[in-house]
Amino acid sequence: MTETVDYGTFEATLERSNRLELALQAEPSRFLVLTGDRPTGRLHVGHLFGSVENRVRLQNMGVPIFVVIADYQVLTDRDYGDDIAANVHHIVLDYVAAGLDPDNGRTSIFPHSHVPELNQLLVPFLTLVTNAELNRNPTVKEEIQASGRQQINAGMYTYPVHQAADILFCKASVVPVGKDQLPHLELTRAIARRFNARFAPDRPVFPEPQPLLSSAPAILGLDGSAKMSKSRNNAIELSFSEDETAAHIKTAKTDVDRLITYDPERRPEVANLLLLLSLCTKKTPEDLASEIGDAGASRLKSLLTEALNEYLRPLRQRRRELEQEPGFVGRMLNKGIAQAREVAQQTLAEVRQAMGMAYGIGGR
Ligand code: TRP
Repeated sequence: MTETVDYGTFEATLERSNRLELALQAEPSRFLVLTGDRPTGRLHVGHLFGSVENRVRLQNMGVPIFVVIADYQVLTDRDYGDDIAANVHHIVLDYVAAGLDPDNGRTSIFPHSHVPELNQLLVPFLTLVTNAELNRNPTVKEEIQASGRQQINAGMYTYPVHQAADILFCKASVVPVGKDQLPHLELTRAIARRFNARFAPDRPVFPEPQPLLSSAPAILGLDGSAKMSKSRNNAIELSFSEDETAAHIKTAKTDVDRLITYDPERRPEVANLLLLLSLCTKKTPEDLASEIGDAGASRLKSLLTEALNEYLRPLRQRRRELEQEPGFVGRMLNKGIAQAREVAQQTLAEVRQAMGMAYGIGGR
């Protein structure tokens, strides 16, 4: 393991990502996308505009896509009191209501806890990284800080290796991610390279997956904090009623200046509301700001409430219908699990073969 994990510059990654986007548009079926979320709560508009709409776009372009619900990853930084099963249930409803379609033959949604062969890849992968590398991961360091805990479990340090198994089990070529996930993707690429170099120098088993950076601007929380998240109670969830949406937008933090201007540097809270309004109306935040002028934050909030409720209406309608359909979520998950397992079994067989550890029937 002489070669170190190379995090590269963000600019270079962005440029590669832009070229990748063009290649995807030209030949969507040549690629395989893997992406996913931790099931920590219901999805909110930050997820929708930040990642989910982009997945739906890729799916509809014709790219095959696996969406991993990373339920084991939830255990890294919190107690087990959270109802993970309920979160998994709701995230499936949110995904499908937003347009991901497991019935199209190209889209699979699965919880990684239910794909044993994927999890088994973790064991050899752990031998391809050093403790020092795991300790250096900047995203993990931030999460340890944010957890506010004294006792950090080993899963917190090793989950990026597990994430490599999420990505490599299906030999994904493209991983749509936000900036915070880039360290995990670089580690994944290093694991793929090292596995090939060590066990399969003549016939590489794993491709090196490439990050596709989201071009969507980050959505702040309604309280102006850096991230919209359920635990900070600053999110607008997709499953909110129209009244709940209105009530939450009413509480959004703004500032004392009555004249509405788009100034993300100096007026981040107002800019964030304008950005959300812009995403719903397809007008620029600048134009919206001058339309509102000195009608102030209350006008901005009422416009946003109306626009967002209208934008989300079809999704919410569909979500309510799916919720009524008996056994719907179970059917979606069984399908995704079966598809993921079939691929994972194949990959694990290749991995064992490459490692010279395929014994017995079906071995050598
Ligand atoms: N770590 C990701 C997050 O917190 C979730 C995730 C798990 C993921 N496995 C993945 C993302 C594989 C992309 C690819 O959001």
